Amino acid sequence: MARALAGGLVRTGAVEPGAIAACARDWEKLRRNTEPEGMVPLADAAAVADFADVVVVAVKPHQVEAVLAPVRERLLGKIVVSVVAGYTFERYEALLAPGTHHLSTVPNTPVAVGEGIVVCERRHSLSQAEWTAVRGLLEHVGLVMEVDTPLLGIAGTICGCGPAFVAMFVEALGDAAVKHGIPRADAYRMASQMIVGTGKLQLESGTHPGAMKDAVCSPGGTTIVGVAELERKGFRGAVIDAVDAIQSKR
Ligand SMILES: NC(=O)c1ccc[n+]([C@@H]2O[C@H](COP(=O)([O-])OP(=O)(O)OC[C@H]3O[C@@H](n4cnc5c(N)ncnc54)[C@H](OP(=O)(O)O)[C@@H]3O)[C@@H](O)[C@H]2O)c1
Repeated sequence: MARALAGGLVRTGAVEPGAIAACARDWEKLRRNTEPEGMVPLADAAAVADFADVVVVAVKPHQVEAVLAPVRERLLGKIVVSVVAGYTFERYEALLAPGTHHLSTVPNTPVAVGEGIVVCERRHSLSQAEWTAVRGLLEHVGLVMEVDTPLLGIAGTICGCGPAFVAMFVEALGDAAVKHGIPRADAYRMASQMIVGTGKLQLESGTHPGAMKDAVCSPGGTTIVGVAELERKGFRGAVIDAVDAIQSKR
C-alpha cells in the first residue's frame, strides 16, 4: 500500500520522489522499491520520522505497536497518516504521545495511478491547515471521502476489497471474450476500459446505476438477456453476500 501511495503521489506530480523516504525490514527489497524511483530508503522508522513532515503508517495491523513505540516522541509535531485497517482515531490516541496530530484513512490500490479512493475518518487531530494540506495531497491520487468512525470498516470493504471483486469480473469477461475469439490481452483492455468508463459516467452524471442498466437494455434486445441470466445466477446477491462475509470477519 505504501508503494501504491508513494507511486501515485510521484506519478501525479504531487510530490517530488526525493521528498519521499521509507523504511522496511528487508533493506535490499526496500532499496529496489525506492532508489530506482528516486525515493530515499532509510534504516528505520526513527530516520523516517526525522526526515518527513507527513509520516504514513503502512505496516500490517499486528506490526503497528512495535513500529510506533520507539518513535512516539519523534512523531510529536509531525502529521501521522495511517492506512492501517482497523486502526481508528481512538486506537492511535492510546498509542501515540498525547498531542500527536493523526488521521486514519483507508486508501485502495488504484491510488497508484491517481484513480484511487482515500476514505478518511472524520474524527482526527489535525489542525484545519494540516487537514487542508493532507486532503490536497491525497486528492492527487484519488477521490477523498470522509466518513464517521463506525462506517470506516464497511467503506474499507467496498473500496479496499472491491478491486479484487472487479478484477475477478475483468477476468471473467476476459475468459468469455476469449471463448468467443478475442485475444486475451485485447479482452482485458476492453473489459477494464468498459469498467473505467462506466464508473466515470456514473460519477460524472450521478445517474442511478439501475437507470444506467436500463439505458443499455433495449426492449427485446440482447443486453437484457445477459442481465436476466446474471439475475438467475444471483449476481447481485453474491456481491452482497461477499461484503457480508468480509464484514463478519472484521
Ligand atoms: N493492500 C491494500 O489494498 C490495502 C488497502 C488499504 C489499507 N491497507 C493497509 O495497508 C497496510 C499495509 O498493507 P500491505 O498490504 O501493504 O502490507 P505489506 O505489503 O506487508 O507491507 C507492509 C510493510 O511494512 C514493513 N514493515 C513491517 N514491519 C516493519 C518494521 N518493524 N519496521 C519497518 N517496516 C516494517 C514491511 O517491510 P518488509 O517487506 O521488509 O517486511 C512492508 O514493507 C495494512 O495495515 C493494511 O491494512 C492495505
